[in-house]
Amino acid sequence: MCGIIGYTGPLEAKKLLLEGLAGLEYRGYDSAGVAFFDTDSHIRLIKQVGKVASLKEAMSKIKEDSHCGIGHTRWATHGGVTVENAHPHQAGRVTLIHNGIIENYHQLTEEFCLEGKLKSQTDSEVAAWVLDSLYEGDPLEAIKNLVHRLEGTYGFCILFADRPGEIYAVRKVSPLVAAYTHSGAVIASDLTALIPYTQKYFVVPEQEIVRLTPYKVQTYNLETFEKTSPEIMTVNWNLDAAMKNGFPHFMLKEIHEQPEAMKNTILPRLNRGIPDFSDDRIPDSLFAECSQVHIVACGTAMHAGMVAKAIMEPLLRIPVTVTIASEFRYQDPLVDERTLAIIISQSGETIDTLAAMTLAERLGAKTLAIVNVKGSTIARESQYVLYTHAGPEIAVASTKAYSVQLAALYMVACRMALVRGKYTEEQAKAFFSEFLDVIPAMEEMIERKEEMKRVVTHLINSPDAFFIGRGLDYAFSLEGALKLKEISYIHAEAYAAGELKHGTIALISDQVPVIATATQDVLFSKMISNVREVKARGAFVILLTKEGAEVDENLADVHLTIPAVKDQFTVFPIAVVLQLIAYYASLGKNLDVDQPRNLAKSVTVE
Ligand code: M6R
Repeated sequence: MCGIIGYTGPLEAKKLLLEGLAGLEYRGYDSAGVAFFDTDSHIRLIKQVGKVASLKEAMSKIKEDSHCGIGHTRWATHGGVTVENAHPHQAGRVTLIHNGIIENYHQLTEEFCLEGKLKSQTDSEVAAWVLDSLYEGDPLEAIKNLVHRLEGTYGFCILFADRPGEIYAVRKVSPLVAAYTHSGAVIASDLTALIPYTQKYFVVPEQEIVRLTPYKVQTYNLETFEKTSPEIMTVNWNLDAAMKNGFPHFMLKEIHEQPEAMKNTILPRLNRGIPDFSDDRIPDSLFAECSQVHIVACGTAMHAGMVAKAIMEPLLRIPVTVTIASEFRYQDPLVDERTLAIIISQSGETIDTLAAMTLAERLGAKTLAIVNVKGSTIARESQYVLYTHAGPEIAVASTKAYSVQLAALYMVACRMALVRGKYTEEQAKAFFSEFLDVIPAMEEMIERKEEMKRVVTHLINSPDAFFIGRGLDYAFSLEGALKLKEISYIHAEAYAAGELKHGTIALISDQVPVIATATQDVLFSKMISNVREVKARGAFVILLTKEGAEVDENLADVHLTIPAVKDQFTVFPIAVVLQLIAYYASLGKNLDVDQPRNLAKSVTVE
């Protein structure tokens, strides 16, 4: 969603802000803007609807240098996509950018009599005017008084007209990371905008104010203004990881990175062939003492949870529930002290997932977060964290993050089975050695990508597509449908194949594409009957099975096979197939693969 960048130092700020905003584009946005001090120490403001490229174009006319400024990409929440609503917002001596939502902006508008002053429809501008009203020359005092009045979430970067060269920042929930580098001070809403300048950074602590000058970054306690020293962290990936490196799209690059990401996530945690989380400081007691598992996540991460349920429940013989994070809070969940809540999030910033985790903890659950972004809010606030090592995922459509989330969940399942006495050491070892076969299987499917490319010629002309499967195959189908719809805009739905006759089959008519996954031996013949049912109604069937499966020649229009890994593990090569089908469908329709319309990479508002 919205992105923030701020810089003060000897370099040309406008260039750096534009580069930072380009690095944040992947988060999703619909307008962009910058504010900077010009050579006369006046603040200049430029905002544009649309892509950062049009902002760059507008800024190319400004020839003078600048060494301090802030930039923002906005994903509209309060108010439409207009120049007025784009950030930065200027109010008297204050110019600010804001991520998050100010919930009490109505009351503040009345209390500070702002009705006639507001130029935009945003809650952010209200905050700017309130700050201006509170400002009497001391930025720290004014910011403290502002945040005492705010309800909601925020990450602010602020310029004061009488403080050239300085940037102030404060946050609640919305992330901000900052660094002092040999060439100035930088602040951003996410690491991708910082890594061109530094590997060392800190997460701006809540309840603290940051002041950036060309010579220093200093944090202050919000109440006492005492200086503080936040923990310095090191980025665990380099700039290359966030570049396309010769691939036409981040999504394709990230699909290719999956085998490596799997190895990075799994191999350091294997001890004599068995998953071991000692280095992650996750004690076995966490797995031994729970009486139920509750998995909470959104989107793709939630789909990884659905697969985990299908693996864990029969293995562990305890209830495993999967809940969409945005629903969790409102359903009075059955969570208690003996619940292990597994929270899954690539970004570690999804607001609904964070809120669900907080509630689970309040209800007494132990929380284990499976997170990709180091130092993210969910990672910091969970009791235990199991990092996946996928590196930065830039494309909005999640691919490698899904595979490594699954890998982490399979490792947890195996460890839990061992510590709960469901597996002997030999069984755990055998499970995991067979599991490792998925890595070459994924590599093979990536190699065979041309097969998936050919499949989409039929798909891209269809308004709808259906994914069907049973058991685990149904769990993967959910993700396949999400991938296809989010980047190709084809209406795609996944159904448990046995449910077809209870309604959905009415939608199957001539040439409607049906992607049928049949990789589970025990369900194979039932699944094939379902395929026959849709075929009999004219569907265009793309059938996915393991190599060696016996399939009549005329059953499917296209038959794709994956290597014959064990049934529990077919999700990994199948994920690659479904991701590539979605990728080529988007490409075939000439769409923006990496930044699909209306979507943001990390959903930081409810
Ligand atoms: O960062 P998170 O894993 O918490 O994000 C959750 C979803 O927003 C995300 O998985 C989304 O569904 C994907 N972009 C879909 O490809």
